[in-house]
Amino acid sequence: MNLFKPKILHYKSLPSTNNEAARLAAHGAEEGLAVVAEEQTAGRGRLQRSWLSPMGAGLYCSVLLRPKFSADRWPLITFVAALSVSDALLEACGLKTDIKWPNDLLAGERKICGVLAEVIETSEGRAVVLGMGVNVTRDAFPKELAAVAISVDEATGRENQRSTILHFLLKAVARWYPLLEEVEGDQKVIAEWVSRSSYAEGKLVTIVNGDETLTGVTRGLATDGALRLQTELGIVVVRAGDVSRVRAAMKSEARRGSEWLNQQSEGS
Ligand code: BTN
Repeated sequence: MNLFKPKILHYKSLPSTNNEAARLAAHGAEEGLAVVAEEQTAGRGRLQRSWLSPMGAGLYCSVLLRPKFSADRWPLITFVAALSVSDALLEACGLKTDIKWPNDLLAGERKICGVLAEVIETSEGRAVVLGMGVNVTRDAFPKELAAVAISVDEATGRENQRSTILHFLLKAVARWYPLLEEVEGDQKVIAEWVSRSSYAEGKLVTIVNGDETLTGVTRGLATDGALRLQTELGIVVVRAGDVSRVRAAMKSEARRGSEWLNQQSEGS
Protein backbone atom coordinates (compact mmCIF):
# COMPACT_ATOMS: atom_id res chain seq x y z
CA MET A 1 0.00 0.00 0.00
CA ASN A 2 1.16 3.54 -0.61
CA LEU A 3 -0.27 7.02 -1.06
CA PHE A 4 -1.00 6.38 -4.74
CA LYS A 5 -2.95 3.19 -3.95
CA PRO A 6 -4.30 3.98 -0.51
CA LYS A 7 -6.12 1.47 1.63
CA ILE A 8 -9.39 3.18 2.65
CA LEU A 9 -11.27 2.00 5.73
CA HIS A 10 -14.89 3.21 5.86
CA TYR A 11 -16.76 3.29 9.16
CA LYS A 12 -20.36 4.20 9.92
CA SER A 13 -19.45 5.86 13.22
CA LEU A 14 -16.23 6.48 15.12
CA PRO A 15 -15.31 8.67 18.07
CA SER A 16 -12.61 10.25 15.89
CA THR A 17 -10.98 9.13 12.62
CA ASN A 18 -7.68 10.55 13.95
CA ASN A 19 -7.91 8.26 17.00
CA GLU A 20 -8.69 5.22 14.86
CA ALA A 21 -5.84 5.97 12.44
CA ALA A 22 -3.48 6.38 15.43
CA ARG A 23 -4.67 3.08 16.90
CA LEU A 24 -4.07 1.28 13.61
CA ALA A 25 -0.68 2.99 13.24
CA ALA A 26 0.30 1.60 16.64
CA HIS A 27 -0.51 -1.86 15.22
CA GLY A 28 1.81 -1.29 12.26
CA ALA A 29 -0.54 0.16 9.62
CA GLU A 30 1.31 1.41 6.55
CA GLU A 31 1.68 4.92 5.23
CA GLY A 32 -1.29 5.94 3.11
CA LEU A 33 -3.98 4.29 5.21
CA ALA A 34 -7.11 6.47 5.06
CA VAL A 35 -9.76 6.22 7.77
CA VAL A 36 -13.16 7.69 6.88
CA ALA A 37 -16.32 7.85 9.01
CA GLU A 38 -19.86 8.94 8.25
CA GLU A 39 -20.06 10.49 11.71
CA GLN A 40 -17.71 11.20 14.59
CA THR A 41 -19.01 11.19 18.14
CA ALA A 42 -15.90 12.86 19.59
CA GLY A 43 -14.36 14.65 16.61
CA ARG A 44 -11.44 16.84 17.60
CA GLY A 45 -10.23 20.20 16.27
CA ARG A 46 -7.18 22.38 16.78
CA LEU A 47 -6.39 23.98 20.12
CA GLN A 48 -8.26 21.26 22.10
CA ARG A 49 -11.60 22.17 20.52
CA SER A 50 -14.24 19.67 19.48
CA TRP A 51 -15.25 19.22 15.83
CA LEU A 52 -18.95 18.54 15.47
CA SER A 53 -19.37 15.72 12.98
CA PRO A 54 -23.04 14.82 12.39
CA MET A 55 -23.94 11.72 10.37
CA GLY A 56 -23.49 12.20 6.62
CA ALA A 57 -23.00 15.97 6.87
CA GLY A 58 -19.25 16.18 6.41
CA LEU A 59 -16.23 14.40 5.08
CA TYR A 60 -14.29 13.17 8.10
CA CYS A 61 -11.03 11.64 6.99
CA SER A 62 -7.59 10.87 8.45
CA VAL A 63 -4.53 9.79 6.49
CA LEU A 64 -1.58 8.02 8.11
CA LEU A 65 1.85 9.33 7.09
CA ARG A 66 5.26 8.01 8.06
CA PRO A 67 7.55 10.86 6.92
CA LYS A 68 11.18 10.05 6.21
CA PHE A 69 12.19 13.68 5.62
CA SER A 70 13.74 15.93 8.24
CA ALA A 71 11.56 17.04 11.16
CA ASP A 72 11.92 20.73 10.30
CA ARG A 73 9.63 20.08 7.31
CA TRP A 74 6.95 18.31 9.33
CA PRO A 75 4.98 21.52 10.06
CA LEU A 76 4.45 21.80 6.30
CA ILE A 77 2.37 18.62 6.31
CA THR A 78 -0.66 20.67 7.33
CA PHE A 79 0.01 22.93 4.33
CA VAL A 80 -0.06 19.83 2.13
CA ALA A 81 -3.49 19.08 3.61
CA ALA A 82 -4.79 22.59 2.90
CA LEU A 83 -3.52 22.46 -0.70
CA SER A 84 -5.00 18.98 -1.16
CA VAL A 85 -8.47 19.94 0.09
CA SER A 86 -8.25 23.10 -1.99
CA ASP A 87 -7.50 20.99 -5.11
CA ALA A 88 -10.20 18.46 -4.25
CA LEU A 89 -12.93 21.08 -3.84
CA LEU A 90 -11.96 22.66 -7.13
CA GLU A 91 -11.72 19.38 -9.05
CA ALA A 92 -14.73 17.65 -7.49
CA CYS A 93 -17.08 20.62 -7.04
CA GLY A 94 -15.66 23.52 -9.06
CA LEU A 95 -15.25 25.48 -5.84
CA LYS A 96 -12.36 27.90 -5.38
CA THR A 97 -11.32 28.43 -1.76
CA ASP A 98 -9.07 30.76 0.22
CA ILE A 99 -6.63 29.52 2.89
CA LYS A 100 -6.34 31.17 6.29
CA TRP A 101 -3.14 30.48 8.21
CA PRO A 102 -2.30 27.90 9.23
CA ASN A 103 -4.70 25.64 7.36
CA ASP A 104 -8.38 26.64 7.46
CA LEU A 105 -10.11 26.60 4.10
CA LEU A 106 -12.59 29.40 3.56
CA ALA A 107 -15.32 30.09 1.03
CA GLY A 108 -16.70 33.63 1.12
CA GLU A 109 -14.63 34.22 4.29
CA ARG A 110 -16.46 31.42 6.11
CA LYS A 111 -14.76 28.21 7.21
CA ILE A 112 -15.46 25.17 5.05
CA CYS A 113 -12.69 22.82 6.20
CA GLY A 114 -10.31 22.34 9.11
CA VAL A 115 -7.12 20.31 9.42
CA LEU A 116 -5.72 18.60 12.50
CA ALA A 117 -2.28 16.97 12.13
CA GLU A 118 -1.03 14.96 15.09
CA VAL A 119 2.40 13.42 15.65
CA ILE A 120 2.26 9.98 17.25
CA GLU A 121 4.84 7.44 18.44
CA THR A 122 4.60 3.94 17.00
CA SER A 123 6.91 0.89 17.20
CA GLU A 124 7.96 1.74 13.64
CA GLY A 125 8.90 5.30 14.60
CA ARG A 126 7.13 8.63 14.73
CA ALA A 127 4.21 9.06 12.39
CA VAL A 128 1.67 11.75 11.54
CA VAL A 129 -2.10 11.41 11.46
CA LEU A 130 -3.45 14.02 9.08
CA GLY A 131 -7.11 14.67 9.85
CA MET A 132 -9.31 16.70 7.52
CA GLY A 133 -12.91 17.71 8.14
CA VAL A 134 -14.96 19.25 5.32
CA ASN A 135 -18.45 20.69 5.86
CA VAL A 136 -20.36 19.15 2.97
CA THR A 137 -24.02 19.77 3.83
CA ARG A 138 -25.69 22.55 5.78
CA ASP A 139 -26.17 20.14 8.71
CA ALA A 140 -22.43 19.94 9.35
CA PHE A 141 -22.48 22.81 11.86
CA PRO A 142 -25.05 24.41 14.16
CA LYS A 143 -27.09 27.45 13.03
CA GLU A 144 -25.25 29.67 15.52
CA LEU A 145 -22.09 29.26 13.44
CA ALA A 146 -23.71 30.27 10.14
CA ALA A 147 -21.90 33.62 10.13
CA VAL A 148 -18.49 31.97 10.29
CA ALA A 149 -18.99 28.53 8.75
CA ILE A 150 -20.23 27.33 5.35
CA SER A 151 -20.76 24.00 3.61
CA VAL A 152 -19.72 22.89 0.14
CA ASP A 153 -23.40 22.53 -0.81
CA GLU A 154 -24.16 26.13 0.21
CA ALA A 155 -21.06 27.49 -1.50
CA THR A 156 -21.78 25.69 -4.78
CA GLY A 157 -25.58 25.94 -4.68
CA ARG A 158 -26.07 22.20 -5.27
CA GLU A 159 -25.58 18.80 -3.63
CA ASN A 160 -22.12 17.30 -3.64
CA GLN A 161 -20.94 13.75 -3.06
CA ARG A 162 -18.59 13.05 -0.17
CA SER A 163 -17.19 10.05 -2.06
CA THR A 164 -16.17 12.24 -5.03
CA ILE A 165 -14.49 14.79 -2.78
CA LEU A 166 -12.66 11.95 -0.98
CA HIS A 167 -11.47 10.47 -4.28
CA PHE A 168 -9.93 13.78 -5.40
CA LEU A 169 -8.62 14.53 -1.91
CA LEU A 170 -6.57 11.33 -1.65
CA LYS A 171 -5.23 11.84 -5.17
CA ALA A 172 -4.17 15.37 -4.23
CA VAL A 173 -2.44 14.23 -1.00
CA ALA A 174 -0.50 11.70 -3.10
CA ARG A 175 0.60 14.56 -5.42
CA TRP A 176 1.55 17.16 -2.80
CA TYR A 177 3.05 15.11 0.04
CA PRO A 178 6.00 13.61 -1.93
CA LEU A 179 7.15 17.17 -2.71
CA LEU A 180 8.29 17.42 0.91
CA GLU A 181 10.93 14.78 0.12
CA GLU A 182 12.36 16.81 -2.77
CA VAL A 183 15.28 19.19 -2.38
CA GLU A 184 13.32 22.40 -2.90
CA GLY A 185 9.91 20.84 -2.48
CA ASP A 186 9.29 22.65 0.80
CA GLN A 187 9.62 26.01 -0.97
CA LYS A 188 7.26 24.83 -3.71
CA VAL A 189 4.63 23.90 -1.11
CA ILE A 190 4.99 27.27 0.62
CA ALA A 191 4.90 29.21 -2.65
CA GLU A 192 1.71 27.44 -3.74
CA TRP A 193 0.12 27.95 -0.32
CA VAL A 194 0.98 31.68 -0.49
CA SER A 195 -0.45 31.98 -4.00
CA ARG A 196 -3.78 30.55 -2.78
CA SER A 197 -4.05 32.53 0.46
CA SER A 198 -5.35 36.08 0.73
CA TYR A 199 -3.98 35.99 4.29
CA ALA A 200 -0.34 35.48 3.34
CA GLU A 201 0.62 39.07 2.62
CA GLY A 202 -0.66 42.53 3.53
CA LYS A 203 -3.70 41.51 5.59
CA LEU A 204 -4.42 43.28 8.86
CA VAL A 205 -5.15 40.52 11.37
CA THR A 206 -5.44 39.72 15.03
CA ILE A 207 -3.85 36.52 16.29
CA VAL A 208 -4.95 35.04 19.60
CA ASN A 209 -2.83 32.37 21.26
CA GLY A 210 -3.93 31.62 24.81
CA ASP A 211 -3.68 34.87 26.77
CA GLU A 212 -1.61 36.56 24.10
CA THR A 213 -3.14 38.75 21.36
CA LEU A 214 -1.12 40.25 18.55
CA THR A 215 -2.30 42.67 15.88
CA GLY A 216 -0.34 43.32 12.74
CA VAL A 217 -0.05 42.96 9.01
CA THR A 218 0.87 39.60 7.49
CA ARG A 219 4.23 39.47 5.73
CA GLY A 220 4.47 36.00 4.21
CA LEU A 221 5.68 32.73 5.67
CA ALA A 222 8.99 31.65 7.19
CA THR A 223 10.66 28.55 5.68
CA ASP A 224 9.00 26.30 8.29
CA GLY A 225 5.55 27.72 7.58
CA ALA A 226 5.39 30.12 10.54
CA LEU A 227 3.48 33.35 9.83
CA ARG A 228 5.49 36.58 9.70
CA LEU A 229 3.58 39.47 11.21
CA GLN A 230 4.58 43.12 10.99
CA THR A 231 3.71 44.70 14.34
CA GLU A 232 4.50 48.06 15.80
CA LEU A 233 7.48 46.42 17.48
CA GLY A 234 8.81 44.87 14.28
CA ILE A 235 8.40 41.48 12.59
CA VAL A 236 7.06 38.75 14.89
CA VAL A 237 7.18 35.10 13.77
CA VAL A 238 3.99 33.35 14.87
CA ARG A 239 3.87 29.55 15.19
CA ALA A 240 0.45 29.00 16.78
CA GLY A 241 -2.83 30.81 17.22
CA ASP A 242 -6.17 31.76 15.78
CA VAL A 243 -6.08 34.36 13.02
CA SER A 244 -8.96 36.75 12.37
CA ARG A 245 -9.13 39.42 9.76
CA VAL A 246 -9.62 42.90 11.21
CA ARG A 247 -12.86 44.06 9.63
CA ALA A 248 -13.87 47.60 8.65
CA ALA A 249 -15.53 48.52 11.94
CA MET A 250 -12.62 47.18 13.95
CA LYS A 251 -10.21 48.93 11.61
CA SER A 252 -11.53 52.35 12.51
CA GLU A 253 -11.06 51.32 16.13
CA ALA A 254 -7.51 50.21 15.30
CA ARG A 255 -6.96 53.46 13.43
CA ARG A 256 -7.66 55.40 16.58
CA GLY A 257 -5.26 53.11 18.43
CA SER A 258 -2.59 53.01 15.78
CA GLU A 259 -2.40 55.02 12.58
CA TRP A 260 0.70 53.04 11.75
CA LEU A 261 -0.97 49.63 11.47
CA ASN A 262 -3.50 50.92 8.99
CA GLN A 263 -0.83 52.49 6.83
CA GLN A 264 0.89 49.10 6.65
CA SER A 265 -2.16 47.10 5.60
CA GLU A 266 -3.65 46.68 2.17
CA GLY A 267 -6.48 49.11 2.90
CA SER A 268 -9.33 46.65 2.27
C1 BTN B 1 -9.87 22.49 13.12
O1 BTN B 1 -9.99 22.77 14.32
O2 BTN B 1 -10.05 23.34 12.26
C2 BTN B 1 -9.47 21.12 12.70
C3 BTN B 1 -10.64 20.20 12.52
C4 BTN B 1 -10.22 18.81 12.08
C5 BTN B 1 -11.41 17.86 12.03
C6 BTN B 1 -11.02 16.54 11.40
S1 BTN B 1 -12.45 15.56 11.00
C7 BTN B 1 -11.41 14.20 10.70
C8 BTN B 1 -10.36 14.20 11.78
N1 BTN B 1 -10.82 13.53 12.98
C9 BTN B 1 -10.89 14.36 14.03
O3 BTN B 1 -11.26 14.04 15.17
N2 BTN B 1 -10.53 15.59 13.65
C10 BTN B 1 -10.14 15.63 12.26
